[in-house]
Amino acid sequence: MNVKLAKTAGFCFGVQRAVNTVYEILAREQEKAPEDRKPIFTFGPIVHNDQVVQKLKSRGVEVIASEDELKNVKNAIVIIRAHGVGKRIYDIMHDNHLEIIDASCPFVRKIQRLVHDHTSQGETTWIAGNPLHPEIQGIVGWADGDVRTIPDPESAERLPEGNGQKIFLVAQTTFNVDKFKVIVDILQKKGYYVNVINTICNATFERQTEAKELAKHSDAMIVIGGSSSSNTKKLFEICSAECQKTQLIQTVKDLELEKDDAIGNVGITAGASTPKEIIEEVLTYVRNEF
Ligand code: F3S
Repeated sequence: MNVKLAKTAGFCFGVQRAVNTVYEILAREQEKAPEDRKPIFTFGPIVHNDQVVQKLKSRGVEVIASEDELKNVKNAIVIIRAHGVGKRIYDIMHDNHLEIIDASCPFVRKIQRLVHDHTSQGETTWIAGNPLHPEIQGIVGWADGDVRTIPDPESAERLPEGNGQKIFLVAQTTFNVDKFKVIVDILQKKGYYVNVINTICNATFERQTEAKELAKHSDAMIVIGGSSSSNTKKLFEICSAECQKTQLIQTVKDLELEKDDAIGNVGITAGASTPKEIIEEVLTYVRNEF
């Protein structure tokens, strides 16, 4: 059996930066006398991976799960997650005099700025993305006017005719590249005048392109990543379309790969928030056992 690991599998720049930031702050606090140390929190999980979050918890880093919880936090350090947060969250942190460490991915910050600037100028602004995802909720939280999300091409199809209406359109960093093109097409055909900035992150684009190619040439495909990781789910969706035997796992324990002579090539990829150790564990297991 040939096993091939995608070159792009694992931590992207933004995730690596956010995780490093937490460890740097931990090290900085450790150097202080115990009475001077402040508790360290992240707002939301720092990245969408349970193993990463649990490891940080074992070092004393707690997760603030909601705005209400944040309101009760005082005299602490709060690290903002890679997916970013809305303006209101920064305001609460300032009001509570918390030490803010911003680990938002710079690419997400760029979208927040774009949405803020364009809505402030009165432009109708749409975001292709999942309205329930924290990244999108954070971006929407920077809007200063008319904003809406378009989760998929089907939702774009349901929109009324555009009649030349001007729209400023961006995308969630992890949005499916092909679906974004379809949405732009639909809007243009409906008569909207669309000013598009493709804000899909290059790391996402590269991962999706490589995963698609690998899945095409694999008899079984393994996608490793957190259950709440949007980019992992997209990789699974893309690989499943090319390779029927695609599995989504969080760790090696979830793997269900049967010994089958028909499986000659196995491809492995992983979401942008999946740590290297977890990927290596799966790779070693598949190489040794099959
Ligand atoms: Fe940032 Fe792109 Fe990763 S937006 S968090 S570098 S997937």
